[in-house]
Amino acid sequence: MIQFQPPGIRDERDKTGKCLTPVRFRFPCPAASEITFFTFMNAQDELKIRDMEILFQPFHSRKLSTPTHIVLPAMTRGFSPNGVPTDQVAAYYKRRARHEVGLIITEGTFIDEPSASPSSNYPNFFGGASLRGWKKVLEAVHTTDCKIAPQLWHVGMARPFKGENLPNPELPPIGPSGIDVNTLEQTAEPMSIAKIEEVINAFARAAADAKRLGFDGVELHGAHGYLIDQFFWKETNRRTDEYGGDLVGRTRFASRIIHAVRKAVGSQFPIIFRFSQWKTGHYNAKLAYTPMELEAFLAPLTDAGVDIFDCSTRRFWEPEFEGSRLNLAGWTRKLTGKPTISVGSVGLKGDFTNAFDGGPEAEAASVEPLAERLKAGEFDLIAVGRALLADAEWAEKIRHAREKDIHLFTKEDLKTLK
Ligand SMILES: Cc1cc2nc3c(=O)[nH]c(=O)nc-3n(C[C@H](O)[C@H](O)[C@H](O)COP(=O)(O)O)c2cc1C
Repeated sequence: MIQFQPPGIRDERDKTGKCLTPVRFRFPCPAASEITFFTFMNAQDELKIRDMEILFQPFHSRKLSTPTHIVLPAMTRGFSPNGVPTDQVAAYYKRRARHEVGLIITEGTFIDEPSASPSSNYPNFFGGASLRGWKKVLEAVHTTDCKIAPQLWHVGMARPFKGENLPNPELPPIGPSGIDVNTLEQTAEPMSIAKIEEVINAFARAAADAKRLGFDGVELHGAHGYLIDQFFWKETNRRTDEYGGDLVGRTRFASRIIHAVRKAVGSQFPIIFRFSQWKTGHYNAKLAYTPMELEAFLAPLTDAGVDIFDCSTRRFWEPEFEGSRLNLAGWTRKLTGKPTISVGSVGLKGDFTNAFDGGPEAEAASVEPLAERLKAGEFDLIAVGRALLADAEWAEKIRHAREKDIHLFTKEDLKTLK
């Protein structure tokens, strides 16, 4: 590619520093000797901007459109005392919304079942005070054109028996077979059918509240070894009734939740479903070992009413199965025909477990391979976790080739709501 400034034109900029100087691009073209066009861009940065531009284009799907392809994924922060999101939480999300994030999935927020949460500093999605707090978050984000969906969560057997900030400490954790997700030993009773119905109804009520408040969709947290995923995974689901059995049987709980949520929110409200192969503490775990198994797993969830799959991986560039470079989001898109969100170490070299296990601090990584996959249509949206947690302006800095100004993620960033 050749670029030059036409003679007699000065390097002019507008008030924001954007270059107003026409820059000419010439591309070799098989049909003609070359294609030439002029554009107005920063003469120094045009190559980077062109490669990344897909990230900053609007995304359109049947029920959800977003101003850019960049998603802030759910990241629990622990700054919501007594389960109530504060004004600082609203400001935290708004800062990201103002800087090129197209869709915010909020941190996991709890449905109205008394053992859903492991900490009273994590936000609830029920009760007047918490919902009023969420309304403020929503209004703050909607001062921009960014979209926002709460991530609805129940931790299941990942809830401890004791703990300083444990809500309803007299209650044991609940799960499909009462199996502790870390030790894989049975420590509680299997969930009764009545409890299963109660949880399904609580998810549906929370989704209805999200719609009533004005959110742009909901995400159901079916990943990372929490309650819904405990039903999916054979190590934590040893039931022999209709909620257990083979992989398809183990999707029944999630399918019933999705059905109930769909009934509560109507046909046009977007339902995003997050799932993962890995589980917290079991990073090599898998639900599906082949594309055929993945297809069998996804089919009932798709039929139940999922609009977008959020496919959680730790490194977006890793192939999910041998013989293809497609990652989990790539395969999910191919198998279901639904839009997908990919995620995992965008802009960073180390994966997110380093944030918790004392591994090395993150180093910056190029975003170009990601833009290339988006352009190739492997997946539709990309979630950027720690990079955006550490620097609210990360996306804008990438867009304007200001990588050198990016504040790189460190564990210290978890301690504040910048
Ligand atoms: C501090 C922190 C909190 C997180 N909390 C959640 C959560 O509540 N729900 C969820 O689905 N994922 C959660 N995640 C996972 C992220 O959504 C994301 O998938 C992960 O950080 C990988 O993206 P990254 O490599 O860009 O950081 C969390 C990650 C971090 C670092």
